[in-house]
Amino acid sequence: MRSRLSHCFWLLVALCFLSRRAAAAPRLPVRAVNLGGWLVTEGWILPSLFDGIPNKDLLDGTQLQFKSVTQNGYVAAEKGGGAGLVANRSQASGWETFKLWRINETTFNLKVFGNQFVGVQSDGSVVATATSPGKSETFRLVRNAGQNRMRIMAANRLFLQANKDSTVTADYGKSTSWGDDDPSVFAVTRVTGLQGEYQICNGYGTAKATPILKNHWSTYIVEDDFRFISESGLTAVRIPVGWWIASDPSPPAPYIGGSLQTLDKAFKWAEEYNLGVIIDLHAAPGSQNPFEHSASKDGSQDWGTSAANIAQTVQVIDFLASRYAASPSLLAMELLNEPLAPGASLESLKTYYRDGYNAVRKHSSEAYVIMSNRLSSPDPTELLEFAGGLPRAVIDVHYYVLFNSMFDTFTVQQNIDFIKTNYSSALSTVTKPNGWLSGRCPMQRRKSFKCLQMHRWMCMGRQHLDGLTGLSRM
Ligand SMILES: *[C@@H]1O[C@H](CO)[C@@H](O)[C@H](O)[C@H]1NC(C)=O
Ligand SMILES: *[C@@H]1O[C@H](CO)[C@@H](O)[C@H](O)[C@H]1NC(C)=O
Ligand SMILES: *[C@@H]1O[C@H](CO)[C@@H](O)[C@H](O)[C@H]1NC(C)=O
Repeated sequence: MRSRLSHCFWLLVALCFLSRRAAAAPRLPVRAVNLGGWLVTEGWILPSLFDGIPNKDLLDGTQLQFKSVTQNGYVAAEKGGGAGLVANRSQASGWETFKLWRINETTFNLKVFGNQFVGVQSDGSVVATATSPGKSETFRLVRNAGQNRMRIMAANRLFLQANKDSTVTADYGKSTSWGDDDPSVFAVTRVTGLQGEYQICNGYGTAKATPILKNHWSTYIVEDDFRFISESGLTAVRIPVGWWIASDPSPPAPYIGGSLQTLDKAFKWAEEYNLGVIIDLHAAPGSQNPFEHSASKDGSQDWGTSAANIAQTVQVIDFLASRYAASPSLLAMELLNEPLAPGASLESLKTYYRDGYNAVRKHSSEAYVIMSNRLSSPDPTELLEFAGGLPRAVIDVHYYVLFNSMFDTFTVQQNIDFIKTNYSSALSTVTKPNGWLSGRCPMQRRKSFKCLQMHRWMCMGRQHLDGLTGLSRM
């Protein structure tokens, strides 16, 4: 379920700890649809935005394993990193897996298990010791079309070869016919890859990514969708955004400017069709989970590991709250989507949620402030007390009704019933007696993404699971 966490069917349980004040517009219950894949790209969108990328299977974060055809052994970074490369492993696992950082379609850095980069020393030996990549950590991957074979050219313009003593050196200059007798030929297994905002921007490069994303933003969701959402009886939209939106129109590389203007347009349409907007910070600086939908560069998760990183994230919230606080459509700011435990610690999350909450409150006393529970947390109630002290705070809990083939054949009613029966005890655990519950609920998964989008929605009710009865009316 990992890489597709955000765009599928899940439940959102929201406990709104309303202090004694009445709710502002839009009226409760809130029924919202998540406009996923719009301003934060994910690979599942059809038609694929990734198809035009040269070497589209070699994007940032792609994991490759190299097996020497002469040694019949996988290349490993000894000790997982910090030492030399060898080519004598009979099986491939973490130490035998290399993550790509893409410089361009043919040129890459190779990151190893321990997060060091593969590089070549002056004597030609190949080691994984650099903590950041420089010229000698840069490699050209030369493919043999049709066969999953590659040669790896180092910055010294010589190819890596697997020697008889299993060492790997960058000192092979001959041409190849890709045979099993060539020590510079490696059979390559692509273990996995990511398709998120980082990959699409860096995969195309700024110049080519700009028109592609601008076209996506202006065609994927259009005014007519807002009209349809409104006419269908929904009252709000949730819009995932990435942290780089706050530095529009010139975000740091590789991100592309323009998502802010699209969000402005979304607010205009929301106002026109009387819909609320939940702005959801889906991708935080450093990535709050290793998945592509948090715009992770290579599957790493570094959000929240420093005070500066948290402060930078709060700045994004401050920026967005300030920009949209005056809009009658600003329903809620969701401070962060799906931080993953234990990488996102409860301590840094609470620090961030407190500061982010205050940043929203500087600009709006009305907007709800939504705080995601941590994925994989051992205790789903860990934020209840904390959030309970903050007026108009909401806790977002995701329970999925997908990622299991069992759900493939479910009807809408079966989905709803599953939530009521199988998730009822989990939901009671995170629902306080005076709390509010919202279910972000699945309909069937459709081939057409538009249809899929339109079938995701949220409803909110006052009493525990009673809120879910609203679902059957949809
Ligand atoms: C890729 O980058 C390398 C190293 O900077 C450069 O030599 C090469 O020409 C580039 N290739 C393309 C296709 O841009
Ligand atoms: C692989 O080769 C290296 C270098 O010759 C050697 O130190 C290591 O013990 C070998 N490992 C295995 C599993 O054969
Ligand atoms: C869901 O709950 C029903 C009714 O209690 C039960 O029969 C079924 O096995 C449960 N399904 C799963 C996957 O837990």
